[in-house]
Amino acid sequence: MLILGLNMFHADASAAIVVDGEVKFAIAEERLNRRKHFGGFPALAVKACLDAVGAKISDVDHVAVGQDSDANLAKKVQYALANPAKILNFIKLRQRKEAMRDVRSLLSIALDADSAELRFQEHHLEHHIAHIASAYYGSPWEKAAGFSYDGSGDFVSTMMARCEGNDIEILDRVFLPHSLGSVYTMICEFIGYTQYGDEGKVMGLAPYGKETYCDEIRKIVAPKNGGFQLDLSYFKPLGSNQGMQVLPDGTVRLARHFSKKMEKLFGEPRKPHTEITQRDMDLAFALQHRFEEIFFHLLHQLHQRVPCADLALAGGCALNSVANGKLFDRTPFRRTYIQPAAGDEGLAIGAALHTYHSVLKQPRRHELKHSYLGPEFSEAYIQNCLQTAGLEAHKLDRPALLDTVADQIANGNVVGWFQGRMEWGPRALGNRSIVAHPGLPNMKDVLNARIKHREWFRPFAPSILADRQHEYFEHDHPSPFMLHVYKIRPEKRKQLCAVNHVDDTGRLQTVTREENPLYYDLISAFHSKTGIPVILNTSFNENEPIVCTPEEAIDCFQRTRMDVLAIGPFVVVKPGRENGNLVTATAEKNA
Ligand SMILES: [Fe+2]
Repeated sequence: MLILGLNMFHADASAAIVVDGEVKFAIAEERLNRRKHFGGFPALAVKACLDAVGAKISDVDHVAVGQDSDANLAKKVQYALANPAKILNFIKLRQRKEAMRDVRSLLSIALDADSAELRFQEHHLEHHIAHIASAYYGSPWEKAAGFSYDGSGDFVSTMMARCEGNDIEILDRVFLPHSLGSVYTMICEFIGYTQYGDEGKVMGLAPYGKETYCDEIRKIVAPKNGGFQLDLSYFKPLGSNQGMQVLPDGTVRLARHFSKKMEKLFGEPRKPHTEITQRDMDLAFALQHRFEEIFFHLLHQLHQRVPCADLALAGGCALNSVANGKLFDRTPFRRTYIQPAAGDEGLAIGAALHTYHSVLKQPRRHELKHSYLGPEFSEAYIQNCLQTAGLEAHKLDRPALLDTVADQIANGNVVGWFQGRMEWGPRALGNRSIVAHPGLPNMKDVLNARIKHREWFRPFAPSILADRQHEYFEHDHPSPFMLHVYKIRPEKRKQLCAVNHVDDTGRLQTVTREENPLYYDLISAFHSKTGIPVILNTSFNENEPIVCTPEEAIDCFQRTRMDVLAIGPFVVVKPGRENGNLVTATAEKNA
């Protein structure tokens, strides 16, 4: 049975194909059309899904969309009537959504197929149910608490659920305009981070701040029984799309969220790309602090209703890896399952799996244990790309490849590591990664100056052999998708200085041999050379969506000052980098 899942006309448009209950291929449109957070129709992603399983659109039995514009309609109408200025906007939005609901026409146009041949049944699933479904049905559990939170989706910002067997029973929703995601976005905008998806940057800035504004920020959002409530005087009215607009060309744009009251209280908003002041850091600190307080309050409420240890967590706010890392100490939940694409691209998987298990009542068998659901390229294809680019590459067998690359990393070189199938979700997890030595004091600056050009305060992440996690981190709950931040043990901080954030934490990826044998063996090879079972892992890109194809990887390698490219079995070393780069990156003595 073939089910095509879609997230369309919404940020991070994506497609996934589920064959007999197993996710076989999934990809965000941005990786193919190279437009970050693209929010239009995922035509290229749908084609890639079908090609990956050798199917035509006429073979597809069900198409499931992670959006239902009829969901919570009464609440939307009530909101529009209470805000007369929004009524026209609301009607326009409804008309546009009606046109977008014609999935059959959209697919037949995108795939140049005769619509008479399309025999699929169509399903529309409310946004947050699709989020929770993406986590719960990917988890190993037969019973769990389900929680989803983000800016907004189908007029809801937060959902709590009881997940059992094949069913997801909704316990509660928090309706717009009350949204924890919107609080985050509002303060991000105020301190100069105005682009969709900038929230992760501000999470990285937060530990540089102090408690100065915690009491003030507490007034913006307050817990209440069953949920939370915003003080709307801090916000501009955002409308039923909660200030997030998808333009006809698929660009996602944020409206200004904060009101004049923010300026009265905290002064001039920071202009993007200007100096970050202590005020901005303190606001980021207070924001993250309040976000966590409300999140843990909600989880306590959920646990009272679903008293179990397991939490299936999703939604854009579930990418807040700092909050995720603390929840084991601050709530009664003991395990989390967060699938790699916790944000909106994950809706494609959620809608498809919900159709299979909840609608069609098919048994649960497949746990989503890894993120490698994207395209891969043959050795011959890669070789051809290298030749076309005029690069001199050495083909190595597996042991030589691992030994050479581990040597290069140990010597302080920066390596582009392109292997196997691309990751699903926003994190590079060892197949489209740039890897480097985690224990060189200036590696962060080297990476930023040469390739990444990121803000000075953003940390780089460690990938660690899962069986060594307890020696290096103060928590041993696994973090296979780089979605938890834990404290690094004091005695290991120097050894991991390039991935140790200012608050002595790391957003780790725990790597098992079962999930990614080649990457595991690379870290092992580095470990045997240096005594460190960890490598620095950042996404393979330069201010663009993560590279998908060999051509994009080669292009990124050539236009940046990356030292080495390891692509499939081929290794290319830039002239002058053969013996490593320890002149600029001085190795720490290993502990
Ligand atoms: Fe969402």
